[in-house]
Amino acid sequence: MKNQIKIDKIIKPFKKEIKVSSDKSLSIRCVLLSSIALGKSKIFNLLDSEDVMNAVSAIKKIGVSCIKRKNYYEINGVGINGFKLKNSTVINAGNSGTLARCILGLLSTTKKKIKIIGDQSLSRRDFSRVIKPLNLFGTKIKSKNGILPLEITGSDFIRPIKFLENKGSAQIKTCVILSAINSPGITKIKAKKSRNHTELLLKHLNYPIKIKKKKNYDLIEIKGLHQFRAFNYKIPGDISSASFFIVLTLLSKKSELLIKNININPTRSGILEILEKMNANVKVINKKNYNGEILGDIKVKSTKNFKSINCPDRLNSSLIDEFLLIFLIAAKSKGISSFKNLDELNKKESPRLDIAISFLKMIGVKVNRINNNIKIFGNPKLELKKKFHIKKFFKDHRIFMMSVIAALTFGGIWTINDKDSIKTSFPVFLDIIKDLGGNYN
Ligand code: S3P
Repeated sequence: MKNQIKIDKIIKPFKKEIKVSSDKSLSIRCVLLSSIALGKSKIFNLLDSEDVMNAVSAIKKIGVSCIKRKNYYEINGVGINGFKLKNSTVINAGNSGTLARCILGLLSTTKKKIKIIGDQSLSRRDFSRVIKPLNLFGTKIKSKNGILPLEITGSDFIRPIKFLENKGSAQIKTCVILSAINSPGITKIKAKKSRNHTELLLKHLNYPIKIKKKKNYDLIEIKGLHQFRAFNYKIPGDISSASFFIVLTLLSKKSELLIKNININPTRSGILEILEKMNANVKVINKKNYNGEILGDIKVKSTKNFKSINCPDRLNSSLIDEFLLIFLIAAKSKGISSFKNLDELNKKESPRLDIAISFLKMIGVKVNRINNNIKIFGNPKLELKKKFHIKKFFKDHRIFMMSVIAALTFGGIWTINDKDSIKTSFPVFLDIIKDLGGNYN
């Protein structure tokens, strides 16, 4: 099957209501947490994507039964420290940094040898960020240069730790929280603000976790070894997936879209705050609380006069997966937009900052970069006619989808490679594009 698509027409005006795929972060967390709960959890609307199915295969490998029922996944949790592990188990996390880093926390107190491997993209990403705190807990890990493959070679004298998470990474924070659950005593984490689904889930499950919110940090205390019961959870829509359609609508002509049931947890929805400041016509309606998460429907209309933005870097982690899309809006804005301290953006499935800069330059947008800070010189008249070719970038689904949005709104003749990358997070992305009238072949 060909893994490339061609787009040579902008999308016609549309007015529709859609649903997008379920939240990936919450899906992976529900799978992992239900594996150490006691009893049968039911997870409804689990995202059916490669990253999440790798999480399902991973917990099966460590002795947890997981059955796909008609409209939910049944996960039979074994309790804390209840995994039945065989020596030299190999867990393949595929393309998913979230799975690889978080499952390390879950397995931190094992006495068995466990190897974690991943695909080409994951095998170039940094794991020293989680190896360091896990070593403090007493987990022994073998890895060359802090990258995959790595092996947990056992653990002794497991103890709670004090840890400072200062990258704003929810993956590191979750890895440490899961390891703290396996360890005796109280672990204390000072964590730069990042997505807080793990903490909210644990609170919902009445797990002994305390959180004090400070301006830029959260102070988290977790008591280890507290068994908790299985749970039911219905995963809402993913704001990161919805964002492609928010930006598609904003950049299209005379279009309107209603995106139903999206998790707009403030630690995830920085894009909405930034878009509002950029004059975008986006509103959230029907807000409700679901186990601590905030859900809502997002109403978007085409917008003509975008303002540039000076993006405060305190918001970086709340829009970390949406920067590529904000850059497209900045390219079409009046004035110069600036973004600071984007180093984490280069640590994703591909070096996204480097790729985004080349992409913007390729479509004729001026970009200045100093270290990890960039300025984008917007052009409200931006319209493209030339041919553009987007190659494969380490299976980076977000580069593929951002390119499709650019092609359908800026014009030009595009060939975009790596269609299969969407299977990691948003398998129905192209179906929704087609449903809205976007042409590709
Ligand atoms: C995620 C956290 C973010 C994000 C990733 C999913 C998570 O990564 O980019 O797509 O589910 O915890 P970092 O925590 O490394 O910033």
